[in-house]
Amino acid sequence: MAKILGIGNAILDVILTTAHYPREDEELRASERQFQVGGNVCNSLYVLSQLGHDTTIATTIASDDASKQLLNGLKARQIQTEHTQRFIQGQTPTSYVILNQENGSRTITHFRDLPELSFDFFAKIEIEEYDWLHFEGRNLEHLPGMMNIAKTFLTHQPISLEVEKARDGIEQLFPQANLLIFSHHYAGQKGYKDATSLLKDIKTQAPNSHLVCAWGKDGAWFCPAGGNISHQSIHEIPQTIDTLGAGDTFNAALIDALIQKQDLATAVDTASKLAARKCQQFGFDNLLTEIKEKQPLANVNQVN
Ligand code: FRU
Repeated sequence: MAKILGIGNAILDVILTTAHYPREDEELRASERQFQVGGNVCNSLYVLSQLGHDTTIATTIASDDASKQLLNGLKARQIQTEHTQRFIQGQTPTSYVILNQENGSRTITHFRDLPELSFDFFAKIEIEEYDWLHFEGRNLEHLPGMMNIAKTFLTHQPISLEVEKARDGIEQLFPQANLLIFSHHYAGQKGYKDATSLLKDIKTQAPNSHLVCAWGKDGAWFCPAGGNISHQSIHEIPQTIDTLGAGDTFNAALIDALIQKQDLATAVDTASKLAARKCQQFGFDNLLTEIKEKQPLANVNQVN
C-alpha cells in the first residue's frame, strides 16, 4: 500500500445515457441520469484506492450545494479531502456527458467557473508524507512551481504527469516527472501522426523519464527511461458499455503496477487490461471483480 497524492480538478459529472448520439436540434430522451465524481485525477485516485492505496486529492472546491455532493462522493470513494482549497466565489466544475449506448462513447461538455489550486496552498502540504505524486497537466500558472518544489524536496518518491492536452508551456514540466503519460490528443495537437514519432522527440526532452502514450484502439506505445520504444496491443472486449475515464483507469493501473515494481512493459500490459475491464461496465465501482456473464436463456427454469 502506498500513500498517493493526486493534484488535479474535482468535477461533478452529470451523465445522460442515450440510445444514440443526438443530432443537432433533436429532442431526445435519456434512459438514465447519473451523478458521479469526475476529473481525471479523481477518477485515477478512485481506482488506486480500489487497488489498495491510501489516496488524497489536492484540488479546489466551491461552496455551492453541488460542492457538498462532490465532497461526499470523494469520501465515499475513500479519497481523502484534507487538501482542498475552498472558494466562496465560483461554482462546482461540472461536466455534462452524453453516454451513447450504441458504442459506449462519451461526449463531454465541461463548465468551469472556479480558480485552480494555488502554489501557496500546495506549498503548505507536507508532500514528503506521500510515496507518489500524480499531477494533471494543467494549471500552467502554478504547476511549474509545484513540480519544482516536489522535485527539490522529495528524495525517492516518483512524480507522474498526465499530459492530456497541449497547453502553453507544458513541455517545461517534462524533465520534472519520472513518468509522463501522453494522450493521442496531445500528440495530434502537436502535429504528430503516431506515438512513435512523439516519443522519439520527448526522449530528447526528458531522457530520464518513463514515457507512455495510449492511442485508443491502436494500443499503447512506451519507452522506459534510457530504453527503446515498444508497442502494446489493446485487450479486445466483447462489448463496450462506458468509456468515460478509461484513460484515467489506465493511468491508475500503470502507477499501481510501477509501485508493485513491475517493469514498464508489464505495467503497460496490466494497465491496458484494467482499462479494457472498465469499458465493460458503467462507472468505476468494483473494478477488481470479475465481469459476470449473463445467464444463458437455456438455464432459466420454465414455469408452465
Ligand atoms: C474523464 C473525465 C471526467 C471529467 C472530464 C474532464 O476522463 O475526467 O470525469 O468530467 O474528463 O475533462
